[in-house]
Parts: sequence; structure tokens; C-alpha cells
Amino acid sequence: MVMLPDWVANGLEILATLFVFVIGLAVLAVLFIYIVDKVQNKDAIRHNFPVLGRFRYLFQHLGEFFRQYFFAMDREEMPFNRAEREWVYRAARNKDNTVAFGSTKALTSPGTFIFVNCPFPKLEKDAACTLPMKIGPYCKVPYQAPSIFNISGMSFGALSGPAVLALSKGAKMVGCWMNTGEGGLSSYHLEGGADLVFQIGTAKYGVRDAQGNLSDEKLREVAAHERVKMFEIKLSQGAKPGKGGILPASKVTKEIAEIRGIQAGKPSISANRHPEIDTVKDLLDAIAHIRDVTGKPVGFKCVVGAYGWLEQLCDEIHARGVESAPDFITIDGGDGGTGAAPMPLMDNVGLVLKESLPMVSDILHKYGLRDRIRLVVSGKMVTPSEVAWALCSGADFVCSARGFMFSLGCIQAMKCNKNTCPTGITTHDPRLQAGLNPEDKAVKVAYYCKNITHEVEVIAHSCGVSEPRSLRRYHVRVVQNTGHSVPMDELYPRPGVLKKKGKKII
Ligand SMILES: Cc1cc2nc3c(=O)[nH]c(=O)nc-3n(C[C@H](O)[C@H](O)[C@H](O)COP(=O)(O)O)c2cc1C
Repeated sequence: MVMLPDWVANGLEILATLFVFVIGLAVLAVLFIYIVDKVQNKDAIRHNFPVLGRFRYLFQHLGEFFRQYFFAMDREEMPFNRAEREWVYRAARNKDNTVAFGSTKALTSPGTFIFVNCPFPKLEKDAACTLPMKIGPYCKVPYQAPSIFNISGMSFGALSGPAVLALSKGAKMVGCWMNTGEGGLSSYHLEGGADLVFQIGTAKYGVRDAQGNLSDEKLREVAAHERVKMFEIKLSQGAKPGKGGILPASKVTKEIAEIRGIQAGKPSISANRHPEIDTVKDLLDAIAHIRDVTGKPVGFKCVVGAYGWLEQLCDEIHARGVESAPDFITIDGGDGGTGAAPMPLMDNVGLVLKESLPMVSDILHKYGLRDRIRLVVSGKMVTPSEVAWALCSGADFVCSARGFMFSLGCIQAMKCNKNTCPTGITTHDPRLQAGLNPEDKAVKVAYYCKNITHEVEVIAHSCGVSEPRSLRRYHVRVVQNTGHSVPMDELYPRPGVLKKKGKKII
């Protein structure tokens, strides 16, 4: 028999006692939880299945994180499936973005769009560069917007400082614009050096006086920044039409409060409408005022539901003269993203872009304003096919928020409203932000924008045109319920242009 040295035998004895003690403690804890679950009557599952019932909540929580790795198919998840996210991740890393074997997309599902390739595509050597497009021809300082694809509004507040800085640096590198979102102008926006669109939300964060009204003095200060190229009045946003901004108290830091002109540590909730904009006349007045004070192009952002007001707006523009028109309209899809919003608004209010874009483009066309008012769109346009579809349908520019979040490393953890974003993008917790290196991510932002634009060009060449803005509705077909596709110009034929009689349109 082998004799163990005393210190080993003593050690083993202590470990054995500890083991029995821990097991005993665990049994006691289970017993305690059993009694707690059994005597409570607030939760039926825990009452009927004491202890075991608790695993349901644990697995439900863990499922959010692990489903995507183990169970979800490539085209299954919402809002963005793995195939879409992977495309963005690879584009952002400038990695080979070809796939093998065949498409995993259900190509006969209703709504799928199929581009109409031509037998003799444009040779690469005959490809044309997409030229910058002028916005705001009647302004003192119009904007020559260089990129088709741009960064949609996300406030500093919803996003962390490092995330804003990375986006701004990346936008500067690649030459696209970045919208500030409704949280005001921060040092991170300016440090990156990107072209900026300053958004004016209902609370006028960053350009408000002590009473919360629009301050002309502050507007002038913002407009004085050479990097600020345009102003956007936010009427509504796809994820929450009829609801203002919501920034939970945990995200209102001292820095954010100072930029917004509000109190730190209190939720930042803005009104669901600009109090002074109640009609299309008020809207045109506000546009004229901001354009006058800033000298820069002014437009508005909205999600379309009712649309009669757009026709009234066009009538009023003709009554006042085309100079009075908004320089751009941004249409957000009803399926757009947000930092925080009530689920019913997110799910069931506001049209998705597939319906609203052709409709708005046609209204502007009918009123002869299609060239005067630039059409910007956003709403799940994160891969080249969607961007190309939007250009075919009538958009001049496409913006993305969540696409650029993916390029920053977002894993769709859906925690933007919590301050616990695991990738540091939508949190102000310095520990979580530490993993987001703005220098490294800026390069990814730039590559994403460059590669998406490149592949939209590839689609355009396949359709036989030399650059993306030459894409038209007849270049795309839409699959119907029968599984057969119909040309988009048949689904949405361009209406005739109305005639003008004096200041009236008939
Ligand atoms: C985190 C986050 C914050 C946002 N903040 C704003 C905002 O301040 N103002 C705004 O107009 N839209 C905001 N949006 C909406 C986006 O600008 C965009 O309209 C919408 O998400 C659709 O684009 P996407 O599908 O590419 O995300 C936000 C979206 C996200 C995800």
C-alpha cells in the first residue's frame, strides 16, 4: 500500500470536507429557492415547477445571444439575417465577398426583386463615375454631395463617443456624409472631419434656447462650422412615428446633457411633434427660416403613412415658388431602427420603403418637383441589392444606420436602449467602450461604404448602364404571389406631369 505524505493526506481531507460543505450549501440553497417559489403566487411557472421553472428565464435570456450561432438559419433572423450581416462584416473588413455553390435566398417569395441583366453588360472600362449631386440650388451654400450611400441619423447619446468618432472618421476617409441624429453636435462629430447633416429634432437639442425653442443664434453657430453641410428637420422616424426621442436616464451622462442642453441622469424624452409645425405651410415656413438663418440646404425626414399632405405640400410649394421647396426629403421605412421605441409603433405603424418610396417619388414627379427636391431614403438598405432597388425606384441617395453599426462590429444584441451594448457602440459604460477602437473601426466604416457602392455599380453594369444613378424602374422586376415577377415600371407606372397655370397646378 502507498503511504501518502501527511500534508497531502491533510489537504485531501480538507478538500473532502469542503466538497461536502459546498454540496450541503447547494442543497440548502435549492431547498430555500424551492420554498420561495412554492409559497409565492405571482409567477405560475415557478409555483408549479419550483426551482426548475427558473431555468426557463435563464435559457430565454441566453437564447438571445446563442440562437444566432447554433440554431438560426442563414436567412431566418430579424431584423437582419445572418447572410445580410455577414455580407456587411466581410465588406467592412474588405474581405472577399463572393459566395459559393448557389443562392440561399428564396427567389420566388413575393416581394423579392430581380434585376434585369442585359445580354451585353457594360465593360468595366466603359463604366462611368457617379458624379456628386447638388443639393439646395437656391441656397447661399449648396452642397455637392459626393456619395450615393451615407450614414443615417444616430445621435451622440444613442451612440457612444467612440462610435460617433469612428463613423465620422470613416465617413471622412471614404467621402460620404454623416447625419448627427437629433442629439446635437458633439466634439466627436467634428473631430472625425466628415461632412455633417445636422438634424433638428422636436426638442431642438443643440440649437435650443432656455425655453426649448429654436435659437437662431445657436443655429448660426452650428452653421458656421464648415463641416456642417445641411440641416434636416426630423418630423418622424420609421421605428416610432408620432413619438419623439427616447434616451433612458442611464444614458444621459453629464457630457450628453451639456450638448443637448438638458439635465444629466434624467431621461431625455422629446415631444412627438415640433409644436410650431402643424401644417404644410408651417413646415415650409420653418424650412425657409432655417435656410435663411444658416444659408445651407434644408430638408425634412419623415416616415410615410397618410400621403395626401405631400400633395398639399407640393401645391403650396408651387403657390410660393419652387425656391420655397425643401432641398431634400428623407423617407424612412416603417421598419427602420431606433435606440428605443414602443413595440406597436415599431411593428405596425408607417409604410415600409418598398411602398412609400415609389409613391413619394411619383408625387414629386407628378408635380414637376422631382429634380428640385432630392430624395434620400433609409430603412433596411444594408446590402447592395437594396440600395440598387432604391435607386431604380427613384431615390437619389440612400442612408443606413444599422448597416454602419454592423461595420462598427454590432452583433445585433438588441440592447441599444439599455447602456449594456456588448460591443461598446450604444453604451456609455467605459468598460464596454474600451473594446471599440475608433481608428480601427473607421477603416471598416470606410470599406463598408466603398464596397457597397462598388457592388451597386456591378449591378448597374450587369443591367447595361454605366453608373448606378442611371438605373430605372424597368431594370427591376418584383416577384408576385404567383411566384412570377412583374417589371416595376408596370407595377408603378410614372404618372403624367401636371400642368402649371400661374401659381396653380392643375
Ligand atoms: C441606435 C439608433 C439611433 C437612431 N437615432 C436616430 C435619430 O436620432 N434621429 C433619426 O432621425 N433617426 C434615428 N435612427 C433611425 C435611423 O436614422 C434610420 O432612419 C433607421 O434606422 C433606418 O435605417 P437602417 O434600417 O439602416 O437602420 C436611429 C437608429 C438607431 C439604430
